[in-house]
Amino acid sequence: MYRNFKQFCIFIILVLFTTNTLAKDKPKILILHSYHQSYKWTSDINNGIHSIFNDLTKIDLYVEYMDTKKYIDESYYNILTEIYKKKYSNIKFDLIISSDDNAFNFLKKHNFTLFKNSPVVFCGTNYLKEESLKGFPNFTGVNEKADLEENYNLILKLHPNTKKIYTITDTTKTGQLIKNEVKTVTKKYKDKKIEFPIIDDVTFPELIKKVQKFQKDSVILFTFFFRTKDNKFLEYYKAIEGVDKNSNIPIYGLWDFTLNHGIIGGYLTSGYFQGQAAGKIASKILDGRDVKSIPILEKSPNEYIFDYKQIKKYKVDESNIPFGSIFINKKDSLMDLYFKEIVALTIIFILMILFIITLLINITKRKLAEKRINKQLVFQQNLIDNVNTPIYYKNINREYIGCNKAFLELMQVEKNDILNKTAYNLIDNDSAKIFYEKDSELLRSREVQEYDGNLTLKDGTRKDLIYYKNVFFEDGEIAGIVGAIFDITERNSLNYELNRLLSSFDKNVIASKTDINGKLIYVSEAFIKVSGYREKELLGKTHNVLKSGINNDSLYEDLWQTICEKKIWLGEIVNKKKNGEIYTLHTIITPEYDKNGEFLNYTAISQDITAQKLIQKANQEIELLNEDITSTQKEIIFRLGAIAEARSKETGMHVKRVAEYSKLLALYYGLSKNESEIVKMASPMHDIGKIAIPDAILNKPGPFTKDEFEVMKTHSKIGYDMLKDSNKKILKAAAIIAYEHQEKYDGSGYPRGLKGEEIHIYGRITAIADVFDALGSSRVYKKAWKDKEIFEFFREEAGKHFDPILINLFFKNLNEFLKIRDNFKDI
Ligand code: C2E
Ligand code: SIN
Ligand code: SIN
Ligand code: SIN
Ligand code: FE
Repeated sequence: MYRNFKQFCIFIILVLFTTNTLAKDKPKILILHSYHQSYKWTSDINNGIHSIFNDLTKIDLYVEYMDTKKYIDESYYNILTEIYKKKYSNIKFDLIISSDDNAFNFLKKHNFTLFKNSPVVFCGTNYLKEESLKGFPNFTGVNEKADLEENYNLILKLHPNTKKIYTITDTTKTGQLIKNEVKTVTKKYKDKKIEFPIIDDVTFPELIKKVQKFQKDSVILFTFFFRTKDNKFLEYYKAIEGVDKNSNIPIYGLWDFTLNHGIIGGYLTSGYFQGQAAGKIASKILDGRDVKSIPILEKSPNEYIFDYKQIKKYKVDESNIPFGSIFINKKDSLMDLYFKEIVALTIIFILMILFIITLLINITKRKLAEKRINKQLVFQQNLIDNVNTPIYYKNINREYIGCNKAFLELMQVEKNDILNKTAYNLIDNDSAKIFYEKDSELLRSREVQEYDGNLTLKDGTRKDLIYYKNVFFEDGEIAGIVGAIFDITERNSLNYELNRLLSSFDKNVIASKTDINGKLIYVSEAFIKVSGYREKELLGKTHNVLKSGINNDSLYEDLWQTICEKKIWLGEIVNKKKNGEIYTLHTIITPEYDKNGEFLNYTAISQDITAQKLIQKANQEIELLNEDITSTQKEIIFRLGAIAEARSKETGMHVKRVAEYSKLLALYYGLSKNESEIVKMASPMHDIGKIAIPDAILNKPGPFTKDEFEVMKTHSKIGYDMLKDSNKKILKAAAIIAYEHQEKYDGSGYPRGLKGEEIHIYGRITAIADVFDALGSSRVYKKAWKDKEIFEFFREEAGKHFDPILINLFFKNLNEFLKIRDNFKDI
């Protein structure tokens, strides 16, 4: 127990010791103010100090206000000394902070004795001179120096027209220091013709009276005015308020305690900043820095401070006020309060606006571009849609990405059926495979591709097509394939018909060609057939092979003599077939020469008179055919007529006109519409037989000899032979027309000399149509006739050459015929 008590005592001692040590750690600070805290300057200094020492729990603070503004006699100081001795003899301060000259001077005198030579940080010491600190190594602090020159410059900058600057100060020690300083500083402004009167040694009423007389163009620099000529003390704001009330000119100051009492502002000495600067030095010392190592802050921590109310009152140009100035009586705008935030927000806002504007511009640009592109696309689509040739394009995956109407029509699909699809979706697999391979080849070679192909369409029709394909590029890369398709189905079928008809000539016309020695170089199929020989047995031989021995020798002599004289021979020859049968031919032999007069060959065209009769019989049976006439067939027929006409140097218009005249005559005559249509389609072929007429005769630029005309006359029979085998209605009608269009009503025509109604109505109609057009046109052999002559001729020939009923109908409806002639003029 006892032992325990001992331990307890040790514990208590330890605790006390520790507590004591901790208490000792809290620095003891004395703040010694020269004046009283009711003086704003002093309270500002105090606030400045406390802006640094803001946590009073961390310091042990003592404050003394010497109040030496009001009490300044020697005995008062003695009493103060006694009081401090009484209060602080037991205390060692870690630091003393003094404000203003009186406390500073007091410490210089008594620090050693009263305060055990504690470190001193002073502030508010006016015009401190270095030598005044000699022997006081424990002292450091802040100089206080009103900056006259800075303020005069400021006044002249803000009031450039100033003529006089009154400096008001008082008779205190500091006041007189200032007076001397004014005299020194103002020497610098000599050149500027500005007066710098000083007002100091006056009573308060005298001061007011003077101030009332200050004129415009003057400015007051009010320093301070505490003590009057009659040794009266004035509160720090009394004099400045009096001056402000009684003058109407701008007042500037040197100390910030005059602020808010009438001065506009100035480069001010500020109690607050003095205190703050001292506080900063003090805290360094408390942090352990040696006071001797801290230099005196020579540059007084003054600031540009302005009373915004007065700035407005005197209309001071704010733009001339130095940057970074402090203002009082200025309602802090949001701008001042949140300057950084507002700047940041403004920048963000501006950036956003810029961003939005950029976006809008881009959107507008894009829309415009899209519009333009769309327009162009529509235009291009229209363009290719107006082309009759099917056109399509595909991407490199062989998917269709576009086409024109003609392509859709050809393929018998809708656009949506093909877009983004391949040929495999469109046509049979075999054809698609071919296209696929062709596409691959094209993509490899990049060279225009052309190939034939046929395609079975959805509806089963088969088309002969030619494909033209090429690649197209985008941005330098192959982007796909473009193709055009030519449908040659019709062309092929026309060729087929033409070949058929030409072979019909070969089959039906007994024709041969011999060389100059009379050796056969060509025999037609009909020739071969009628002779009973084979082609081989004939070619290279002479006509002697066929000699029957029945003809007179004089016939051959005449024949050879005629053709050797380059004349046409015609006559009847009796020949013998291979099997010994005899047959009779009506033969025309024409010697043919080229343009330069060089001999080419002898052409013989014959008619087997026996055969003709057999054919007439055989053709008795009439086939009834109800086949529709397709446009293709019409076209073929028209073209065939045109081929013959083209050879005889007549324009295609001739056959067109003949067709129209014929149809009109057929209708007026009373034939059905259908039949009239057939007449129209068949009539262009009336001269198809001219195909067989040698050029020299066909295009002879003058009247025929009798013989030449005989050759020409064969064109009707030849045409008939070419056409007669067809079982198509139109071609049958054409055969009749070819055969009978040269017959005449009175029986004087050819080839058969038919008479009146023996001549088929088609023949009678075409005769009028043909002659009407032939007379009105110029030919290689004749000039065009005048209408009057034509009509006279027609009237005369009614009942002779022409059917009088048809002539009658012709004149009755003459205008209609003339209209046709106008509509189909030769070009
Ligand atoms: P084309 O020129 O088409 O004439 C057809 C028919 O119109 C002729 O049948 C005839 O009936 C009549 N024609 C044409 N021009 C005249 C003419 O000046 N006077 C008279 N009176 N009638 C005329 P045609 O006469 O049987 O002739 C058949 C074809 O023979 C003609 O077809 C033409 O290609 C050719 N042709 C007829 N005469 C000559 C001729 O003297 N010289 C040449 N180079 N060709 C002729
Ligand atoms: C004065 O110093 O006497 C008044 C202004 C100041 O305290 O410095
Ligand atoms: C077609 O006929 O399908 C167009 C040709 C092709 O795809 O290459
Ligand atoms: C296609 O073209 O779309 C695939 C087959 C072809 O190459 O034509
Ligand atoms: Fe004719």
